[in-house]
Amino acid sequence: MYLGLDLGTSGLKGVVIDEAQNVVAQATAALSVDRPNTGWSEQDPTSWIRAAEEVLDALAPKTLAGIRAIGLSGQMHGATMLNSADEPLAPCILWNDTRSAAEAAEMDADQDWRAISGNIVFPGFTAPKLAWQRAQSPALFDQIAKVLLPKDYLRLWLTGEYASDMSDAAGTSWLDTGARDWSDALLEKTHLSREHMPRLVEGSQLSGNLRPALAARFGMGEVPVAGGGGDNAASAVGLGVTEPGQGFVSLGTSGVLFAATETYAPDAETAVHTFCHALPDMWHQMGVILACADALNWAANLVSTDAAGLTGALGPLEAPSNALFLPYLGGERTPLNSASIRGGWFGIDHGCDSTALARTVLEGITFALTDCRDALRATGTRIDRLLATGGGTGSEYWLAALATSLELPLELPENSDIGAAFGAARLGMMSATGDTGLATLPKIAKTIEPNQALVSSFRDAHSRYKAAANTLKELS
Ligand code: XUL
Repeated sequence: MYLGLDLGTSGLKGVVIDEAQNVVAQATAALSVDRPNTGWSEQDPTSWIRAAEEVLDALAPKTLAGIRAIGLSGQMHGATMLNSADEPLAPCILWNDTRSAAEAAEMDADQDWRAISGNIVFPGFTAPKLAWQRAQSPALFDQIAKVLLPKDYLRLWLTGEYASDMSDAAGTSWLDTGARDWSDALLEKTHLSREHMPRLVEGSQLSGNLRPALAARFGMGEVPVAGGGGDNAASAVGLGVTEPGQGFVSLGTSGVLFAATETYAPDAETAVHTFCHALPDMWHQMGVILACADALNWAANLVSTDAAGLTGALGPLEAPSNALFLPYLGGERTPLNSASIRGGWFGIDHGCDSTALARTVLEGITFALTDCRDALRATGTRIDRLLATGGGTGSEYWLAALATSLELPLELPENSDIGAAFGAARLGMMSATGDTGLATLPKIAKTIEPNQALVSSFRDAHSRYKAAANTLKELS
């Protein structure tokens, strides 16, 4: 059996699969985000360890005793800054934090960053956060011995090793993404060196072994830990999205439209992200929106309910409403690249009750993801087959709206909400068996076809959405 641990933003998930890749056990522990200032988003790294302990405690000792390998997945881009005793010097600055917008813009103006990393230097990426930290507190910066991504801090606790995988490392801005190696030139520009970075392995390679003390505590034997992946690349492995033409849409805290690519084909201008895949010699592209299920949960909270409560009264898909919601609660990446843009509701009238508002929220997030489709198209990347994953796949209305707006059938796999943890378990299995061909496509529970009668009204509403987004960007 193989264990996948996915350190998400709202929770840490553990999934155990057997030799036939059936899910035999799973457990989750909740995590919360601190937002001390507008645009800030932080987590205490020790809360991840507590969550991992909770998940490992919840998985029956009988299950854990049979684990042959562990794989890791996690929220990308977070800057976990450690001193020489491996203690966090500050809260981890997360992927959806935009405090380093000024530093990111300055770095992005230096063409070396895009040329080597293949991407815009977004404020959410790791390198500009270190530049911000150095500007704010040189004394703290000088104490930094290692900078780790969230799942790699978890790996340090599990194995005692400093290691990362290519897919997650590509989101730091310090990776030479085509060469799959740290760029000394880029590290030097932020007053850091390879010494501050973890060793790099492929997602399906071994990165270390579970520490004997933890193995004894949780009833495991000598267990290897695989490189794993950033949560999107790990989801792709879980969903079998490993061939050009295959993609998935992820409705998690962030929203992602992901496409596997055979070659390294960056097109930074489009604000599409080009990263290594979690499998050797593969890359991927994705459009990323910062508030997806996050925006839905935020709206639900306003009317004292949860996402299911807010969207539960929606019936079959309708033509988009005249009112528009734009989900830019903390800035946006693809396609706008704006840290300062904020969200909005346009065209609200007296008839707008909470159900109507819920519909505008789902539509708005759908249009933001449709913008990602257009950005991916602009890079020349095609998606012929699209799967759906993430907590948001629980809303039928949303899936129908997405299929119609993206104008692509949407395939909903069984177990659609455990993609990344499942992918991490698969990467663990690959590291133990040496078989990188294990990432097969999942069983499809149902396919949601675009509603052809509504396609043109969704196109029109998407055009209005684009105009409103540009207005908001000008205002910001
Ligand atoms: C990807 C990104 C998010 C996080 C969320 O670039 O920032 O998808 O990985 O977990």
